Amino acid sequence: MNRAEVTHLRAATPGCARVVHFNHAGASLPSQATLDAILEQLQREALGGPMEAADQNVQARARTSAATLLNGAPEAIAFASSGSAAWGMAFNALGPWKTGERILVGRHEWGGNLACIARAVAAGAQLEVIPCDESGAVSVTALQQMIDPQVKLIALTWLPANGGLINPAEAIGALAREHGIAYFIDAGQALGQLPCDVQALNCDVLKGAGRKFLRGPRGTALLYIRPGFMQRLKPTQLDVLSAPWDGEGFALRGDARRFETSEVSVALLAGLANALEECNALGPANIRQRIDSLSQDLRKRLVTLPGLTLHNLGPTDHQSGLIAFTLKGWDSVELKQRLAQHGINIGANGVAYTPLDMQARGLESIARIAVSYLNTEEEIEVLLGHLRELAEGGGV
Ligand SMILES: Cc1ncc(COP(=O)(O)O)c(C=O)c1O
Repeated sequence: MNRAEVTHLRAATPGCARVVHFNHAGASLPSQATLDAILEQLQREALGGPMEAADQNVQARARTSAATLLNGAPEAIAFASSGSAAWGMAFNALGPWKTGERILVGRHEWGGNLACIARAVAAGAQLEVIPCDESGAVSVTALQQMIDPQVKLIALTWLPANGGLINPAEAIGALAREHGIAYFIDAGQALGQLPCDVQALNCDVLKGAGRKFLRGPRGTALLYIRPGFMQRLKPTQLDVLSAPWDGEGFALRGDARRFETSEVSVALLAGLANALEECNALGPANIRQRIDSLSQDLRKRLVTLPGLTLHNLGPTDHQSGLIAFTLKGWDSVELKQRLAQHGINIGANGVAYTPLDMQARGLESIARIAVSYLNTEEEIEVLLGHLRELAEGGGV
């Protein structure tokens, strides 16, 4: 992605002219075309009648683009309202859990996923954390040694929310497949940030939010279910779409839409379809390359600021665009608020989002810069300038 391309993409994104946005891991800035797709659908609904304005083509476009992004079939894709809703629906459809069944997770698992797992633990299942290797990533060797016939699920947060770690999702998938163990990937921070091929990952379930690096609207998420795994999942919630009356009874759909509801926001799906098409057109490998080069450079410069400590696991030459740090004398939320006063958006995460990892590392909160291909070297200078001033001036 060259400078002219980035300039063009930024010009097509109205938020870029108003804020210095480094919170793409919270939610990114949509393009004008994505915004228009949403507004135009709402307009059609208001003027012609909401039911009458329903356009099946919108859903088909979104599903086909999601399938292209993930290298899966459109029938394997369901849309949901949030990443957590998608993960929870798939997980809750796995039960009932029996005493002694083992669930293995990485230490960096998303808090919401752990909340769902806690129910299974209450029913008798056992939650175990896979040890990390020396870089802080999930250890594939340690996982190998934990596997026995009682292991029913391996759950991995591929790119954790609290730093730059990229977990070895493919190697873990190869092990899970070899042993016939269900494998769930939380790709919340991965989709739209790096290539994601469900065939290579060997996952049974994968989910991610639309609003983050995919630059889709809030309130959207993608859920992939491997077709051969579909029969294992019995959704806890059904309706006329997921289990329609067939004249004799209610027949559960054979595709991933068994997890959808009949009522959806067509406007949000129209926006998501556009965002997915934009992402596919740019190419996740090109996106990854630009994010990697910008964030490697930024990490190197951040460590030169007085009182700034980076908190990113994994090898330094193989990290994501999420950069976690703390600044001496500053509470992370107050730092985020102070930067916002200057039109700079970053994130701040507490323990609840990644409780096992934060506690293991003794962290109470981290400030988080998340880099997108939309960011420029000039924006990095602005961010560094403000951070330097705050670092030198001390905390509030
Ligand atoms: C890795 C990861 N998983 C899950 C989530 C939750 O997604 P949602 O807020 O869409 O439920 C997040 C949100 O930041 C995340 O970073």
